[in-house]
Amino acid sequence: MEGYTHMNVTNNDSQYSLPNRSIKFIKESNLLNRKNEERLNSAVQVIDKPIKPPKPSRNASYRNTSEVPVRRLPQAIIIGVKKSGTRALLEFLRIHPDVEGPGPEPHFFDRNYDKGLDWYRSLMPKTYEGQITIEKTPSYFITEEAPRRMLQMNPDVKLILVVRDPVTRAISDYCQAASKRRVMRPFEDMAMLDQSRGVVNTTWSAIKIGLYQKHTEKWLETFRREQIHLVDMQKLITEPAKELAKVERFFHLSPYITDSHFYLNRFKGSFPCLIRKGKVHCLDGRSKGREHPKVKKYVLNRLRRFYAPFNARFYQMVGHDFGWPVV
Ligand code: A3P
Repeated sequence: MEGYTHMNVTNNDSQYSLPNRSIKFIKESNLLNRKNEERLNSAVQVIDKPIKPPKPSRNASYRNTSEVPVRRLPQAIIIGVKKSGTRALLEFLRIHPDVEGPGPEPHFFDRNYDKGLDWYRSLMPKTYEGQITIEKTPSYFITEEAPRRMLQMNPDVKLILVVRDPVTRAISDYCQAASKRRVMRPFEDMAMLDQSRGVVNTTWSAIKIGLYQKHTEKWLETFRREQIHLVDMQKLITEPAKELAKVERFFHLSPYITDSHFYLNRFKGSFPCLIRKGKVHCLDGRSKGREHPKVKKYVLNRLRRFYAPFNARFYQMVGHDFGWPVV
């Protein structure tokens, strides 16, 4: 932990010294301990020293006017990918004073389209001119009709796609499904139709979602490449402020989010928590940052080989190499 700066975090009877910067050397797997998580939630909330407020955002000038805020359709949407850090990205973006959005997923372009745009708008928070309204619903990414429907709403909408190594993503998806069931077969049995012959179960949704190239294709048939911003989940964990600065630029917002908005706490494992209004918020460890099962190496390798050509085509399609295997 050398090189970290620390802040004292206290409540009535507890005091911990926690690192608040330099989120580095982090692996994807998380060793979250539920007991510690609960301890953190109940014990650690208020920061001793007030955090220096960052410079106000340029667009935030509306605060001096008599403008009345209104509900607007989102100008930006996080379209996926499920289990790739979509919640973290939304929460982190909402640190910016010019970014607002609903917490729950609206599922408008997949499940609730019949309810109409007025219904959709009613879910959005009130905003001022110049602010960005954003929502996230990761299932849009794999919804056939979603791109066309979004285009009809706003041909200039800005889209964000957060991506993660498809193999780890599949395991994360499996953990989520398993958490909702009393009994679930091991990951290996779900992912493989025949382990001895190495046949991957391409009908399982957890596997299908990771074929990023296939899904991205239909978005690129509908929207210009510049309208889609990609976020690397691994970087969102290791360098959140840097990754968010790219999103600020994509939104044409003035820079606001800095390292001082994040800290890594030793109870939450490897994942950064955010600091808002002087309080520390970590994503709920029961659904984000779950412990993954140990998957047989043979199956992991088979899945890596399976995704490799799709990864390669995805990199080519979006013009960026995310570092997952391609051969
Ligand atoms: P795991 O629970 O498998 O680790 P989503 O929000 O799209 O459902 O993605 C969930 C994933 O977000 C988690 O998957 C976790 O790896 C990742 N994540 C990224 N940043 C995080 C953060 N700051 N806190 C918790 N989880 C985070």
